[in-house]
Amino acid sequence: MSVNEWAWWQKGIVYQIYPMSFQDSDQDGYGDLQGIIDRLDYLQSLNVDALWLSPVYPSPLHDNGYDVADYCGIHPLFGDLETFDRLLEEVHAAGMKLLMDLVPNHTSDEHHWFLESRSSRDNPKRDWYIWHDPGPEGGPPNNWLSHFGGPAWTLDEASGQYYLHQFDTHQPELNYRHPDVLPAMQEVMRFWLDRGVDGFRVDVIYRMVKDELFRDEPANPDWDGIFPFQSLIHCRTQDLAGTQKLVAQFRKVVDEYSDRVMVGEVYLPLDRLVRYYGRDLSGCHLPFNFHLLLCEWKASAVRRLVEEYESLLPPGGWPNWVASNHDRPRSATRVTPRQARVSNMLLLTLRGTPTVYYAEELGHESVDIPADVVRDPISLNLPELANSMGRDQARTPMPWDGTCQAGFTRSAEGPWLPLTPDYETINVAAQQERADSHLNLFRALTRLRRQAPALSVGDYSSLDTPYEEVFAFLRTHPGSDSYLICLNFGPRDLQLDVSCCGARAEIAVSSSMKRRGVVDLSGLDLAGAEGLLLRLCGPVEKPDLQ
Ligand code: NOJ
Ligand code: MG
Repeated sequence: MSVNEWAWWQKGIVYQIYPMSFQDSDQDGYGDLQGIIDRLDYLQSLNVDALWLSPVYPSPLHDNGYDVADYCGIHPLFGDLETFDRLLEEVHAAGMKLLMDLVPNHTSDEHHWFLESRSSRDNPKRDWYIWHDPGPEGGPPNNWLSHFGGPAWTLDEASGQYYLHQFDTHQPELNYRHPDVLPAMQEVMRFWLDRGVDGFRVDVIYRMVKDELFRDEPANPDWDGIFPFQSLIHCRTQDLAGTQKLVAQFRKVVDEYSDRVMVGEVYLPLDRLVRYYGRDLSGCHLPFNFHLLLCEWKASAVRRLVEEYESLLPPGGWPNWVASNHDRPRSATRVTPRQARVSNMLLLTLRGTPTVYYAEELGHESVDIPADVVRDPISLNLPELANSMGRDQARTPMPWDGTCQAGFTRSAEGPWLPLTPDYETINVAAQQERADSHLNLFRALTRLRRQAPALSVGDYSSLDTPYEEVFAFLRTHPGSDSYLICLNFGPRDLQLDVSCCGARAEIAVSSSMKRRGVVDLSGLDLAGAEGLLLRLCGPVEKPDLQ
């Protein structure tokens, strides 16, 4: 199959923008849509193919916009629909796609659907949400927990019933067992698809169906005693029978339009995750694969993960990889700053669509957040876990340059969250100038990925090496150059014999950005924390390598 026959979302790279933190254009300290428009040249220079925006809808922002008060508008903080349309037009003119964040599992408690539902027990929208009488002894109807701490139920005193929320108390859950809810959400999807958006990332798609009998969840015997939500096994609220049918109904709407994509947020073990491709691929085009960011940073563990995932993919199911996002520590913090280059090289050379989180191209680390500026509901509700589980740390403003406020804003009050303290060196302008910067490494990798079919759509196979800290794999595609990727997850310098791939190869990209030229594959030097992307000379016989 020629590379042109692959869909854009298969051969391309997705870049996640956290709009509040990307670029402030009106000097209120918050990033906005005009700010993204102003930075399109930069985004284009990253050779990414699609931009996914975390929510920009009207919202009281109890969960930074994942509490949607109006699915068909834009929060004034970010702009308005007219600015949105302009953004979309300019993104398309720049040859990129735009994905919205769809949050169908819950609304804000300020959404008019919920206001109606809450207004009385016999309101026609009452059962659009999940209401329940108190338990037999009073109190919540069952033991379900909120992800953000405390019970998953809040009492509405006026009507004497509890409503369900797996997240913040301001995020009541919609009831997809009510026949009118799905069509209402499908209309929301059409609203944006008609405007021209190229698809959706769908929030917690695996948690939309709940046990009809509201049975308690069992205790988790493996709980480490840290994150309260994990004290239960979520077999009554996650990945329930009937979820796939619902996912397919969302997908059906996406398929009414041509060339769009549906990405689903699914935190589940691999064997259950791959079911989200759906029967005959009627589910998500890309059920997000978060296992890289959950996996121990060890070559053997990552290799095992890649191979298990590859073996579980359904026929025709296209892989994808995520190394960081707005809910997890940044990868430079997770894998160490030295390994951040290896991590980016891994993400951009594996088989499958990579999703890159903004500022990861700079090797940006998570930022300590003083208690008095915390915004994340997890940190607010569980202050004892703010340092370990807090999410503000990975949501700080993009550092554009070394000037005061890093070129993110000129607001007198400063940005909504603190900048990284090292923004004078970790910033776009400085890294643009330095040939060996993270940013220039990122661009070299994305440029090559775009040019080389073996990297964007080619096959994957791994190699055994005598070193446990090395992960080495091949990417091949008929009629195109083949590539060998050697990643050193450890600190020691090594020499590898990879002559099974030929006598010599040419360094296409080295993580240090300093090595070039032809190398001898029988004695390949690989420094500690180094990654090499090598163009092989001559054909490779894959079966000999395993
Ligand atoms: C998943 C999102 O990624 C997270 O940021 C949000 O808090 C929850 N879903 C609730 O919408
Ligand atoms: Mg602004």
